[in-house]
Amino acid sequence: RKKGRLIIVAYRLPFKILKNEQGTSLFQNSGGLVSAVLSLAQGRENASFEFEDKIQWIGYTDNTPEELAGVTLENENFRAHPVFISQELNDNYYEGFCNDLIWPLFHYFPSLAKFETEFFEAYQEANLLFYETMKDIIQPDDVIWIHDYQLMMLPDLIRQSFPANKIGFFFHIPFPSFEIFRLLPTTWRDAIIDGMLGADVVGFHTNDYVEYFLKAVRMVIGQGNRMHYVNLNSRLVKVDAFPISIDYNKFNDAYDDEKVVKERKAARAPLKKKIIFSVDRLDYSKGLLNRLKGYERFLEQHDEWHEKVSFIMMVVPSRDQIEQYQNMKSEIDQTVGRISAKYGRIHWQPIIYQYRSMPFEELVGMYTASDVALITPVRDGMNLVCKEYVASRKDELGVLILSEMAGAAAELGEALIINPTDSQDIADAILKALEMPAKEQRKRMKAMRHRLREYDVFAWTNDFFTQMLMIEQEHDRLS
Ligand code: UDP
Ligand code: G6P
Repeated sequence: RKKGRLIIVAYRLPFKILKNEQGTSLFQNSGGLVSAVLSLAQGRENASFEFEDKIQWIGYTDNTPEELAGVTLENENFRAHPVFISQELNDNYYEGFCNDLIWPLFHYFPSLAKFETEFFEAYQEANLLFYETMKDIIQPDDVIWIHDYQLMMLPDLIRQSFPANKIGFFFHIPFPSFEIFRLLPTTWRDAIIDGMLGADVVGFHTNDYVEYFLKAVRMVIGQGNRMHYVNLNSRLVKVDAFPISIDYNKFNDAYDDEKVVKERKAARAPLKKKIIFSVDRLDYSKGLLNRLKGYERFLEQHDEWHEKVSFIMMVVPSRDQIEQYQNMKSEIDQTVGRISAKYGRIHWQPIIYQYRSMPFEELVGMYTASDVALITPVRDGMNLVCKEYVASRKDELGVLILSEMAGAAAELGEALIINPTDSQDIADAILKALEMPAKEQRKRMKAMRHRLREYDVFAWTNDFFTQMLMIEQEHDRLS
């Protein structure tokens, strides 16, 4: 069993640092990645790797070095090493290159993508800042695990100076087909592929993303692969699919948690109606407008369901400095307003829409109070919300409606799979879900729950680590 420290690198630290008169407090951030790595940190040992010390986490903070002077940035799981990025640089790096270019482009919204030279320069500079923060921290046995599209150049930056350390890179969003990827200027494409190939293992959520990445590698560096190994002469890079998951037991056990039971009752009691539920960050990739249109069509076609169902749509604020996100918010506000005005009655709200984040107990309370979960992204790397919904349903009831464009659809075939741009498909699925007999709900839920129980987030991290640790043997075997 290999021993060493684990260094996680991600754009965000696992907590927000708040300073007031009482001192400093650390608040956990939202997002799929934090949920996943936090589960790993909460005490389970990895079978192939023995963690020494706390997990080191390198990430950006919007606090200044002066504000953090003398502050201990650690809790029982993590020791944080903040990366300081000026506001101006961050505007061009995080808001610019990451979220005004890569995010829309890789989620197949090329018309929203902004190709600005200063974005690319800022991206390089910010990746270098992450490297600068890390270089004095890295020790010989450390295993370094870098996450997501904000840090595509970091693996190679580290590899140049630390050739012997194990480096993993996991990509949490879709890797697009080459026809989309090639829209990037050639030098940017090259830098992205070279950067990612600095890792020993490059992981994606699905086989499709793996295939698209391997094609990009072939087109950019002219190198093919053998059994998902790219041979860079001096070393091999393994490229593979590792579908991320959730802490199944945490969600399953929460069903009986006192606070969750209270939340569930609080949601059910006043409504006395069937509940359709969704929760997403505010993002154009989440298909929120299509979802509303699908629900509107359902209401239009099925007045027998009026006053018997409410759609609770929770939208979590995200990236609200970016224009596209602000526009999206107004469109949602308007659409919800229009549907409510048209169908609402004094005693019936067809849509209950809230723009805020939810504490864990309320989230699971809602998952378990609802009859239907309506998850309709137009593109989503994986989507953890749908997995959490299934894992929470210890009662084996509830129906999941899921977009075929979510990475998770590959694993959750017993959901009602819909095409998110087809409002009629959504409307039909809503009807089918609301009318589904309990026996059929159970059958579908059982199958999905079984799969998620078998491959939870611990299996995910373990698989990824095992691949990283095995890479040398594979090199010897294949050469
Ligand atoms: N989530 C959260 N705060 C909330 C509601 C949800 O942190 O108020 C969590 C949710 O439980 C899930 C994650 O945010 O773990 C969303 O992950 P997903 O993969 O579905 O989408 P992403 O936001 O990463 O695109
Ligand atoms: C997705 C991305 C993450 C990101 C998260 C929240 O899950 O894959 O890298 O952290 O969304 O988005 P934000 O822009 O707030 O970090």
